[in-house]
This record gives sequence, C-alpha cells and structure tokens, in this order.
Amino acid sequence: MANKLKEEKKVPILPGPKSIKDIIRTEKYIGRSNYVGLYGIAIASGDKNYIQDVDGYWYLDCLTGASCNILGYHTGIEEIYTSQARVMQHSCFPYAPNEAALELAKMLIEHSPGHYRKKVLFGLSGSDSVEAAIQAMRKYTKRFGVVSFKYDYHGSTGLSQPASGFGLDKGIFPHSKYFRHFNFPVTLQQEEKTLEKIEKAFQTGTVGGVLVEPIQGDAGIVVPEQGFLYSLYQLAAQYDCLFMVDEVQSGMGRTGKLWAIEHYGIEPDLLIAAKGLSAGYAPISALVGRQEVIDTLDPAQHLFTYSGHPPSCKVATFVLDRILKDNILNSVVKRGENLKSKIKDIQSKYPDIIKDVRGVGLMLGIELNIKNNPTLTQTFCYLCLQRGVFFGYFGPHNNVVRIEPPLTLTEEEVTTVTDVIYQVLDIIAQNKVSGEVTEAVKKYCLGIGMTENK
Ligand SMILES: Cc1ncc(COP(=O)(O)O)c(C=O)c1O
Repeated sequence: MANKLKEEKKVPILPGPKSIKDIIRTEKYIGRSNYVGLYGIAIASGDKNYIQDVDGYWYLDCLTGASCNILGYHTGIEEIYTSQARVMQHSCFPYAPNEAALELAKMLIEHSPGHYRKKVLFGLSGSDSVEAAIQAMRKYTKRFGVVSFKYDYHGSTGLSQPASGFGLDKGIFPHSKYFRHFNFPVTLQQEEKTLEKIEKAFQTGTVGGVLVEPIQGDAGIVVPEQGFLYSLYQLAAQYDCLFMVDEVQSGMGRTGKLWAIEHYGIEPDLLIAAKGLSAGYAPISALVGRQEVIDTLDPAQHLFTYSGHPPSCKVATFVLDRILKDNILNSVVKRGENLKSKIKDIQSKYPDIIKDVRGVGLMLGIELNIKNNPTLTQTFCYLCLQRGVFFGYFGPHNNVVRIEPPLTLTEEEVTTVTDVIYQVLDIIAQNKVSGEVTEAVKKYCLGIGMTENK
C-alpha cells in the first residue's frame, strides 16, 4: 500500500484567512458554551459527500455535521422541505394536527423495534427527547432513578445532562443520587462486574429505568461486550425497570440497521431518535415507545411550539423512506466492513500509534496511543484535514478519531480515507510534523475539553 501513496502535494495551513475572521467573530458574539471547535475552519457549503470551507478548501466529510447529514449534500431534500413550507410552514401541532407529523409518527412506529402498541412524542433535539424518555419513565414507574454509563452523552438539558456521563452538569445541578453512572463494559469480566453493580442499584427500588447508547458515540465509539445489552435488558425487565435506548447518534442506518439496538435482538420500551432523522435539514427528534408509558405524561408535560413542524416531518419521512428503500443499509454494512478492515491493516503497520480500531457499519473509531503525546489525535486529524478528510475527535481524553461519513460513502471514498490515514501516519511515525502544524493544533484544535480534565 505504501508504494501506492500519492506524492505529498502542497497542503494548506489551516484555518485559512476567512475562517480566522469567523473565529474572531465567534469569540466576540457567541457564548463559549455554544462551541467546542475542532479545527477553526468555518464551513460554507457541501456537495455530495464533501464540504467546503469559507476559504474554498474541500473536504471529504467524515463528521457529517455531528452525524446528522447522513445522505450528504445537495440531496434534493431541499425541495421536500420547501414544497411543504410553501403550502404550510407551521401550524403548531399542540393546537392542531397536521398530516406530515401523523405520517411520520406512523412510519416511526412501524419501523421501530417492539411488538406492542407504540406512540410518538416529537421534539426538536436529541436532548429534549431524552428528557421526554426520562419524564415518561419516572411517571410510569413512579421511580426517579436513572441508570446510565460513564462517558455516555445524552444531551444538554435538565435531565439529559445529569444522565450523561461526562460530568458536564457539575456546578449547575446539585448532585443527585437519582443519576447513577456505571462503567460501560467491553470485556466479559467488566460485563459481569457492571451487571452486578447495576443489580444492586435496582435492588434499592429507586431505579425506574436504564438509559443506554447501544454503541457509545462521544465516548469514542465504544462497542459493548456482545452479550451485555441483552443481559442488561433482561435484568431491567426482572426489576420492572424500563429499557431506554438513545439512538440519537447510532440510529437512522448508521450501523447498517435502521436502529443499532436491532443488532442485539432487543425491543426497548423507549427509543430516542434525532440527528440523522432529518439528514441535517431540520432540527427534529422523536421519542418512540410503549403507548402506556408515553401516555402517562399529561397534556403539555412534554410539548414544544415547534413539535411536529410540518416541513421537518415531511423531510424526516422522506429520509426514512430513502434509507429503507434505497439499499443504503446494505451499502453501509459493505463500506463499513471494508473501511474497518483496511484501517486494521494500517494499524498492523503502526501498532505504536493506533491502539484500537472499532465500531459497526459507518460508526467507526480509531483510538490513538496518546501516552507520550496528549495532542496526538488532534495532530492526526489536523494533518488529515490538510489532506482533504474531515474527521471528528472525541473520547474522554480526545483520544479517538470518529469516522461517521454520509451513509452514501462510495468505495472510491473509502480508498481516499485510507490513503490519507496512511500518509498522515507516515508523517507522524517519521517525526515529520512541522512546527507550523504543531502551532495550529495548539491554537485551533480545541476539541471537547472534558470538565474532569480541567
Ligand atoms: C447519543 C446522543 N444522545 C443525545 C445527544 C444530544 O442531541 P442534541 O445535541 O440534538 O440535543 C447527542 C448529541 O451529540 C448524542 O450523540
């Protein structure tokens, strides 16, 4: 493979001047909590699976606007949105039903796991739909306790933030015994320990439900030990606790099934969808689940002015239909397997740099060995960016490269990704990272600083 590498072309130092202007304006106008900033580049447009920054540089998009733009750009979905907006942009579902929302709800019910009567509650973000799940769980079980996992990310609101396992709620909410975070097990031994501890929590009689990402996303693409989720599901049922699955990142075909939980043969009581639900065209989310649980919430306990927004619902129905009909799921499986196996090959040549390659479908992660270089992941990703591939970097120590491209990734683009990874590892392995790059990484690659590391 090495001899197939393209010659190093002259690569730009990023961000370019227009992006830098936008960083200055961001610092001036936007509250610090609203951005974490990966590289400092400002994005202007997109086409197919590529995005362009304001300075005119193009990148193969492996972050997809935080895993939302699952069908790429210039998809034609613009027309779906505007054709509905032209006849009725908003009618406020809380006051009057609209057909677009009803059609989407029916489709979500039909295409989500669970052989029982289901209903839908619409929202605007992953966070608020997680909120809805916890609200409904609490009212239904009459128990406040939520079991979730370290480094899970569930959102930024009153219930979703403390349910997350990053400690971002510190200093905002008083510590609550009702949110318990457990290690997310990746080995059989860890699984046994975790289940034991969770069972003890269940035995207190205060826990009403488990909230889990089937594959942790922001934690750094962590795939649980194979049997864990099913055992957890059975344990929850044994203690009459609800099983709530957060598919905000892993859903909508990302792992090769419409919902990641389908890999595990589980029928969750509640399922949360957002991000890719609208392929990035509209802020919309949904909670789908057992009718009797969802209907414990009283009128107006979970509604928003924009819930069931007609153009957003029309778009989401179209996106679901495309994923189910266009052979996209098969393609995700094929491309995902190929990409992962190629990166694993690369890992075997750079075992000191790449610690692990993991994930399912097109939800992949490369864990780097940051022991001797805490900013290795940022440097790696920055060097890839210079060569036209846009990755995110996540994990508790910014140690994992996240690969979540559009589900429409082509075979040729798989090769582009692996060629660039190869080139960049070569630079890192030969200690050829320039001072300019190191400087830019220090200045612009902020990443998600974990509160516990500050
Ligand atoms: C798994 C998961 N749940 C919930 C959320 C929160 O979604 P939102 O940012 O739309 O509120 C995210 C966002 O990154 C997520 O990845």
